[in-house]
Amino acid sequence: MLQEFQLTGKNILVTGASSGLGRQTAIQASKDEAKLIITGRNLSRLEETFRQLEGDNHLMIPADLTHEDELNHLVDAVPPLNGVIFSTGVSILKPVRFLESADIAENFSIGFNAPVLLTSRLLAKKKLVSGNCSLVFISSISIKYPFVGGSMYVSVKAALEGFARVLALELAPKGIRVNCVAPAFVKGPMLEQTQEATSEETIQQIKARQPLGLGDPVDVANAIIFFLSDASRWITATSLILGGG
Ligand SMILES: NC(=O)c1ccc[n+]([C@@H]2O[C@H](COP(=O)([O-])OP(=O)(O)OC[C@H]3O[C@@H](n4cnc5c(N)ncnc54)[C@H](OP(=O)(O)O)[C@@H]3O)[C@@H](O)[C@H]2O)c1
Repeated sequence: MLQEFQLTGKNILVTGASSGLGRQTAIQASKDEAKLIITGRNLSRLEETFRQLEGDNHLMIPADLTHEDELNHLVDAVPPLNGVIFSTGVSILKPVRFLESADIAENFSIGFNAPVLLTSRLLAKKKLVSGNCSLVFISSISIKYPFVGGSMYVSVKAALEGFARVLALELAPKGIRVNCVAPAFVKGPMLEQTQEATSEETIQQIKARQPLGLGDPVDVANAIIFFLSDASRWITATSLILGGG
């Protein structure tokens, strides 16, 4: 592989690494010779990811990122970072007429507040290495193609993309890049939850919009690895749609 596409020697923090896209991205990045710092809430699932990492010297730091003390502990414990993947998220689906303030708070707390506060704390503690550092937020194609019941989910992702674009401007002088990937549905726990919360008809509509079919977590992970690598060093403030066509 060309050297620019490799992550050799890079310290990469992955949030949401105990499941789905975060787990798969951590595994792929370890195959690409990165040193991983993985975090998530559920210890046994996080340990499962840790076991699947290739290479040595990875770190595992469990944290609930909606708890400020645990978030601060994570920031204190990580080494200087060359990349961060923000892959936490929840998918709570409800028609607008049933929304309560608790639904808004829950969705934004983990989907928006946590990545924003984590970024802010990492910057304040100078944990993000200037030059060759890349931040990747996992957004969603649903900003472009919304779905019934997804008002909070789509709003969180739209807010996150807005935040990422401003952050990209603020960090460009330091050589730190900020991008989003916006996947369509891929196979995994989040699709299963959506399947339970909506109708079979909705799922069939989602599948019909993806000419290459449902994605696999590894398809998202590979795109993220490109954004983490020096091969993408001239790319910032973008959002890449990963929609299978
Ligand atoms: N899967 C898809 O089809 C798809 C498509 C488009 C976008 N996305 C986005 O991609 C991201 C990852 O999705 P996924 O499919 O990998 O979801 P997932 O399998 O449900 O994983 C979610 C991750 O977020 C973590 N998390 C949730 N609440 C947390 C909290 N309070 N503190 C710390 N970590 C917390 C979970 O940790 P625990 O396991 O420890 O609870 C888990 O590691 C999400 O932002 C999602 O919106 C997913």
